[in-house]
Amino acid sequence: MKRLMSYLLLLLLLSGCAKETTAVPNKTEVKERIHIGFSMDTLEEERWLRDRDLFKESAERLGAKVTIMAASGDDALQIVQAEQLIQLGVDVLVVVPHNAEATAAIVAKAHDAGIKVMSYDRLIKNADLDLYVSFDNEKVGEMQAEAITKLVPKGKYVYIGGAETDNNAHLFKKGVFNVLQPLIEKGDITVVYDQWTKNWLPSNAFENMRSAIEANNREIDAVIAANDATAGSATKVLAAYGLLGEIPVAGQDAELAAVRRIVEGTQTMTVYKPINILAEAAAELAVKMARDEDVGADRKVNNGKIQVPSVLLSPIAVDQENVVETVIADGFHDYDDVFGD
Ligand code: GAL
Repeated sequence: MKRLMSYLLLLLLLSGCAKETTAVPNKTEVKERIHIGFSMDTLEEERWLRDRDLFKESAERLGAKVTIMAASGDDALQIVQAEQLIQLGVDVLVVVPHNAEATAAIVAKAHDAGIKVMSYDRLIKNADLDLYVSFDNEKVGEMQAEAITKLVPKGKYVYIGGAETDNNAHLFKKGVFNVLQPLIEKGDITVVYDQWTKNWLPSNAFENMRSAIEANNREIDAVIAANDATAGSATKVLAAYGLLGEIPVAGQDAELAAVRRIVEGTQTMTVYKPINILAEAAAELAVKMARDEDVGADRKVNNGKIQVPSVLLSPIAVDQENVVETVIADGFHDYDDVFGD
């Protein structure tokens, strides 16, 4: 009798367990797996490939699924791709806007579908944006100008700006002129050339730099370029005019080619932005947004419509003195890639 009772008990237990393992998870359990849509402007520059991979890795480590689309600098395509991500039913949309103004439409469409939007690295203007995660981009410009004015306190400056459609390009430039303006007013520095670079294209930056040299009879003393891709074009033009290594050049992004130029002395400095920290922070915050959890943003940035809750990380100035302690130590670049042949 006792054995029969214990056998029945076992049967009962097993049937309970069996139910446990094969139960079809209900709708909310499935929904636990957060689905993030990542709408990128371009994968042209070295950094965006890194952002894409690091963000995906970080988000997947947090259990989220990520769908990524890149619009190759095409505004209309970026909006269509964002609509596709919305239709896919993403829980949160992360956007690197090509055009700060045009992408406001994406925020409106996402909100109509009950989806929150984070702008990644670049700000979306004039929209009810939910979160902005980036670096202190004005600081980037200040670091560039501080490094170059130390070497060239007086003289003729060329400013190769970024894409006018990119809010960051305006912040970088504001930072540069925060430092240059007092010296301009004192008459020590003259900015003899100052142009945006359409779509951040190196070929456009090359044309800008060539016009700058030609328009000033090759008499220039310093170049500040908004990123390393445009700085690379500036050094190519300087080489063509036999001025390579003689004119200090500032860049941004710590691209491998730029760090090698710094080591060999044909570029003075770059501004390193630890993208792994940005991507990890953004992935964590995106998951929180999807779960309607408090993101704890400690800053506010005015995007022309609202004070956007923001997280701004610190950039790092890199020159010949601290290449090893910064980009090598962080594993951003390998020692041999930078110092090797
Ligand atoms: C900026 C970004 C820079 C730079 C540039 C070109 O918005 O902050 O790191 O690479 O875009 O894509």
